[in-house]
Amino acid sequence: MSTGMVECMRRLQSLDAEQRKEGVPTVDRLCAVSPETGRFLALLAATVPSGALLEIGTSGGYSTLWLALAARVRGQCVQSFERSAAKLSIARDTFARSGVTDIIDVTEGDVRNFLPDSRTVAFCFIDHEKSQYIECYEMLMPNLVAGGIIAADNIHSHEEALAPFVDHVIADSRVDAVVIPIGKGVLLARKI
Ligand SMILES: C[S@@+](CC[C@H](N)C(=O)[O-])C[C@H]1O[C@@H](n2cnc3c(N)ncnc32)[C@H](O)[C@@H]1O
Repeated sequence: MSTGMVECMRRLQSLDAEQRKEGVPTVDRLCAVSPETGRFLALLAATVPSGALLEIGTSGGYSTLWLALAARVRGQCVQSFERSAAKLSIARDTFARSGVTDIIDVTEGDVRNFLPDSRTVAFCFIDHEKSQYIECYEMLMPNLVAGGIIAADNIHSHEEALAPFVDHVIADSRVDAVVIPIGKGVLLARKI
């Protein structure tokens, strides 16, 4: 990991903590994953079969930086979707300072306007509007390769809101799925 990347990760973490302390409304906060979740995602994304690496919910780019580590190892890009122009401006600055603009492709707008596309997907981290998790999971599923993984955050922190999503995935015979007690709770679904 480069010094620039480490510094950017620290900067985003302290901005996130500051926003939380100041009571900034959730919709405007960075709401980044925990460092252990980031590391876990990077490890996982490095091991999936060939295909696109995607992320839904860039925010300031903290989790994207972790995914960029996996993208670098695999010799490809990570594509991340974000609808907030203000957050994307922080993310773009983060990526430039971290020296990873060559391996991160950000798309601005509602992700549902871009999914599904025709690409084969190997990994997707879902970390956006909780009411849209099932819809996006179903949009991704036809293009997810066998052995590909969908990881979704906030399973424990938003337990009630995400209970229908968890039930939906656990009952899905196309995948093996489990909830991992790491960070805010991460659901993993691996396509059979
Ligand atoms: C929890 S934050 C993402 C945090 C980020 N993954 C990280 O760990 O640094 C969720 C983000 O999803 C974005 N978002 C919510 N719904 C979206 C949608 N339909 N399309 C694109 N972005 C969306 C929000 O603007 C917000 O920035």
